[in-house]
Amino acid sequence: MTAVLQAAATRKELARGMNVPGFQEMKDAGCKISMVTCYDYSSARAVAESSVDCILVGDSVAMTMHGYPTTLSATTAMMTLHTAAVARGAPSKFIVADLPFLSYRKGLKDAMDSVEELMRAGAHAVKLEGVRGHAEIVRHIVDSGVPVMGHLGLTPQSINLLGGMKVQAKSDAAVKILISQARELEAAGCFSVVLECVPSEAARKVTELLKIPTIGIGAGPHVSGQVLVYQDLLGLNPGFKPKFLKTYANAFEVIRTGLDAYDRDVKSGKFPSESESYY
Ligand code: KIV
Repeated sequence: MTAVLQAAATRKELARGMNVPGFQEMKDAGCKISMVTCYDYSSARAVAESSVDCILVGDSVAMTMHGYPTTLSATTAMMTLHTAAVARGAPSKFIVADLPFLSYRKGLKDAMDSVEELMRAGAHAVKLEGVRGHAEIVRHIVDSGVPVMGHLGLTPQSINLLGGMKVQAKSDAAVKILISQARELEAAGCFSVVLECVPSEAARKVTELLKIPTIGIGAGPHVSGQVLVYQDLLGLNPGFKPKFLKTYANAFEVIRTGLDAYDRDVKSGKFPSESESYY
């Protein structure tokens, strides 16, 4: 077997039935991890049939599926509803669900109530943003048997502090802070960390210094895996074209063309024909 085929076989083996140890095994074996956001049952069915390794029910659901301008409108109830729908559509995929804005900042009891709801809805792990002031909560969640994914760099729940959706860790001092926060998350028991919108070099340093895998979005190629928003990568979000995004389909056009064809057929009397009618 060639080295390329061997790597592909290892990758398939590791990705099958992805779980927390699988994340570490993939980083250690040099296999990139693919993750995609997903928020609903029918999209989850498509992800379930794909080779993508794992799913993030992100709090970006507030923007993508509900039309809010930021992720601050996501609530535990919203995240729970979408997590349950995704779990029904993709029962064989590893699902990470976002703890929404402030849900882990009001004390341990509130944080654990949110964690419990998401896990009972079908998540296998939770994700939360930042570390300052909640490393102990991360540790408690992990010690309770719930895997935690961290999230550093651009943390959209802090958009009002950051002043917008901007690239982070651009100075040497900011990279040092990013590295120390990533180490803090690793020490608190996180099994992986998302790095959002940071320069490639900063992401490379964090990835090399951590044992656990890093999952990048707008963080360049030197990370352990990538995550993109389903609607963005499939071209369902026309007009949204940040530098980091690659679109793999033009689903918006496919859907619009199908709808127009249906409308034409209804108006011309072509649909329903005899074959679509009962006798
Ligand atoms: O909610 C989300 O979509 C995310 C990704 C950007 C990582 O957190």
